[in-house]
Amino acid sequence: MSSSTIIPAHVAVIMDGNGRWANRRGLPRSKGHKAGTEAARAIVRHCREIGVRHLTLYTFSKENWSRPKDEVGTLFDLLVSFLKRELGQLVEQDIRLKVLGELSDFPLAVRKALEHAISKSSHCRAMTVNLALNYSGREEIMRACRSMIADGLDPKSVTEEAMAERLYTAGQPDPDLIIRTSGELRLSNYLLWQAAYSEFYFTDIHWPDFSPEELDKAILDFSRRQRRFGKTGEQIEQDD
Ligand code: IPE
Ligand code: IPE
Ligand code: MG
Repeated sequence: MSSSTIIPAHVAVIMDGNGRWANRRGLPRSKGHKAGTEAARAIVRHCREIGVRHLTLYTFSKENWSRPKDEVGTLFDLLVSFLKRELGQLVEQDIRLKVLGELSDFPLAVRKALEHAISKSSHCRAMTVNLALNYSGREEIMRACRSMIADGLDPKSVTEEAMAERLYTAGQPDPDLIIRTSGELRLSNYLLWQAAYSEFYFTDIHWPDFSPEELDKAILDFSRRQRRFGKTGEQIEQDD
């Protein structure tokens, strides 16, 4: 990447296509998920190297609970072993781990592993990795509304700021770039509030094949776009 490339402060990824990657190779879906974990590991490292400050990985949606029990179990096993294996490296690289989603719905062992990783990395500052787990964008917005009601806010106090500070992403910038692998052109209930002005990048590549080079391609594409936030192109050029 050239020195003029704009590195997005927050990259969010919908890591899709593990199942299709495995099917193509005549392998069980679990092998696709395992390979997907390796891809995630490489992307975390790469983001840290190039200076992405926030990386959000869609790891398990609320809707994914409807998958076969053994597939859900495999995903949790992979998550726990990923945390066990990677935590030392994450802390060494000054990476803080966070979860976007409701932890209390997880089996105890999974919850404990997550809480351990969150607390052990809470002092890290170079980069934040958010795992969207048991995540639903609609649920996140409703949860924030419930919290505003519980706090007794009057209608005038229901502002974008009041909402944002009650989301799981409180204190973090909105994603600049949202990447979805494997060809599907949808958000699947991901970061509905935060995606208001995100740039989207879709690729047919299945998640396990999404290498650091592919991420560089996405960032280069992002870097060449003009973000307008409602202004005219001429206004943006004058601002620059
Ligand atoms: C993404 O891959 C991983 C999760 C959703 C947990 P998929 O498992 O959705 O893969 P496809 O879409 O079936 O290929
Ligand atoms: C979105 O992928 C969730 C994750 C990547 C964890 P899905 O594969 O679950 O999305 P749909 O069902 O195709 O929309
Ligand atoms: Mg999928």
